[in-house]
Amino acid sequence: MAANPFDQQQAIPGVKKIIAVASGKGGVGKSTVATNLALALREFGTVGLLDADIYGPSLPRMMGALNQKPMVSEGNKINPVTRYGIKMMSIGFLVEEGSAVVWRGPMLFKAMDQFFRDVQWGELDYLVIDLPPGTGDVQLSLVQKIPTWGAVIVSTPQNISLVDAKKAIDMFERTGVKIAGLVENMSYMINPATQEKMQLFPKGEMNSYLDAKKITKLTEIPFNPSVSLASEAGIPIVESHPTGVEGLAFKDLAKKLAAMT
Ligand SMILES: Nc1ncnc2c1ncn2[C@@H]1O[C@H](COP(=O)(O)OP(=O)(O)OP(=O)(O)O)[C@@H](O)[C@H]1O
Ligand SMILES: [Mg+2]
Repeated sequence: MAANPFDQQQAIPGVKKIIAVASGKGGVGKSTVATNLALALREFGTVGLLDADIYGPSLPRMMGALNQKPMVSEGNKINPVTRYGIKMMSIGFLVEEGSAVVWRGPMLFKAMDQFFRDVQWGELDYLVIDLPPGTGDVQLSLVQKIPTWGAVIVSTPQNISLVDAKKAIDMFERTGVKIAGLVENMSYMINPATQEKMQLFPKGEMNSYLDAKKITKLTEIPFNPSVSLASEAGIPIVESHPTGVEGLAFKDLAKKLAAMT
């Protein structure tokens, strides 16, 4: 009988709650949610942030850590980069920004293995993992290799994004990872002239789908150019504007996830 790939699962010593931030579709705000969630979780314990987007790492730039390099210590262990009190690892620290990582599956699996086994994460209450879009090798490798506490699914409100979010949810369900809930990003926008809510993307069947699946909508993050600007500047919105609507929404998200078992 073929070996069950999930038998390879091994906890990361010292690391408690591993939260995967995922989506089906690209560009819906996973990395934005992962960075801000990590920053907001500092209130509840020690936090690590792993960029599992091997082909499109965004976290070094978003966390203002572009020119940092992780140090290799004795026994070929990798010391993570620390930024805003968060231990971080990303392939972006190892390759030049703008150059492509041209790896096939086996290399990719090896890199993921190193991220989990050779990085000295130390004692962490939370490890937030920013996944690439879709339901491919990296996502599978994650759920096979480490016991993930839960997945936070990010989607924008419209059906085009929801269709892909459903695939991500299906993948986690089939591999036995709990869906902690969904973050609706770019949920609406406040018109700066009138202060009225505007629907930037049409509301699709998100709420009825979540109801039917008994999945919690954890929070709604409005579209706000400040969110994007903050990430571009390397000071995510939770750090730059902790008491704004978005900062508070991310803090509320962290509080809910910290309280969940
Ligand atoms: N709530 C928001 N308001 C304004 N801009 C946002 C918001 N959320 C994300 N963005 C911007 O949208 C773009 C895509 O976000 P992000 O990189 O987080 O998405 P992603 O899902 O990680 O993308 P990829 O699939 O490529 O990894 C970024 O420029 C980001 O700053
Ligand atoms: Mg991303």
